Amino acid sequence: MSTLKPARILAIETSCDETAAAVIENGRALLSSVVASQMEIHARYGGVFPEVASRQHVLSVTPVVEQALSQAHLTLNDIDAIAVTQGPGLAGSLVVGMNMAKGLALGAGKPLIGVNHLEGHLYSAWIYNAGEAIPAEPQFPLIALLVSGGHTEINLMTDHLTYQRLGSTQDDAAGEAFDKVARLLELPYPGGPSIQRSAEEGDSTRFNFPRSWMDGTYNFSFSGLKTAVLYEVQNLKKQGKTPPIPDLAASFQQAVIDVLFKKTMQAAREHGAKEILVAGGVSANRPLRQTFKAQTEFPVHIPAFSLCTDNAAMIGSAAYYRFAHGQVSDLNIDVRPTWPIV
Ligand code: KG4
Ligand code: ZN
Repeated sequence: MSTLKPARILAIETSCDETAAAVIENGRALLSSVVASQMEIHARYGGVFPEVASRQHVLSVTPVVEQALSQAHLTLNDIDAIAVTQGPGLAGSLVVGMNMAKGLALGAGKPLIGVNHLEGHLYSAWIYNAGEAIPAEPQFPLIALLVSGGHTEINLMTDHLTYQRLGSTQDDAAGEAFDKVARLLELPYPGGPSIQRSAEEGDSTRFNFPRSWMDGTYNFSFSGLKTAVLYEVQNLKKQGKTPPIPDLAASFQQAVIDVLFKKTMQAAREHGAKEILVAGGVSANRPLRQTFKAQTEFPVHIPAFSLCTDNAAMIGSAAYYRFAHGQVSDLNIDVRPTWPIV
């Protein structure tokens, strides 16, 4: 049982193209989570258009925060602290959430907690819906694979808020590779879900794309794989053939999963981990989830589907553990990330 002091946190997340707010109790019990997605707006541009994103946050942030409080049947008086994503992310997007959070903290006289977005993703594995069965809490030491649109890394987590980065991508992040390959296969934005959908109809053994193992390290590289898909498409077209998109998508997806899975397992064994945690947008990928869940060597925690991609609940969870350990932020913090990993 946790001996940390109880607290209810209102969290705000605006690091990219999702305006989100949530209320969470004691770091785990989710009382409300509202996500206003800008996906349709950015789909027109084939990717996130930063200025459009920040202006959209300005429009959405107040109603989203109001909704999060009302869905939790609470007012600001019932909240112990305000949490906000400090970075990494798009600066123009981050400042919208940051200023909203500062305004609320100042106006209501509540402490402010700036949270690193990546730390938030990891904490999404602690969350459950209030009123539902309480799932087992992740146990330390654990190996955490973080796979998002901007980051791919393997971390050793030995306690709350205590991380050691064992390796990270040297070029594209896994999600970025999904997005770029989707674009070259002419699949719609966002790329991850499109590739997954197309791959369901495809044969993952049709193309043997290269796996970059980066032996002796826990680093990753996905740009060679992306180029291999591009060359395959170009070759097929040169031969007058129509590229079999589902087979290409399935073979690409399998290559990414193979590398992420094997390297995470290797890290867990080498570091004597008790458990494995997988988080970040790419952890929404169904075949990837199935691959990790099917192994029985380590208990594996993957957030609920809705908490894999960007949300404020995860920011509130990470903020709770910082708050409960006496870590609050100054009201004059910038939107520069303070990644806790050394
Ligand atoms: O964590 P996230 O929402 O934002 C960042 O912090 O980057 O991750 C977004 C990334 C995108 O690259 C998106 O294509 C990928 O997660 N993604 C997926 C899936 N759903 C989202 N990748 C593979 N399969 C999916 N089902
Ligand atoms: Zn994210």
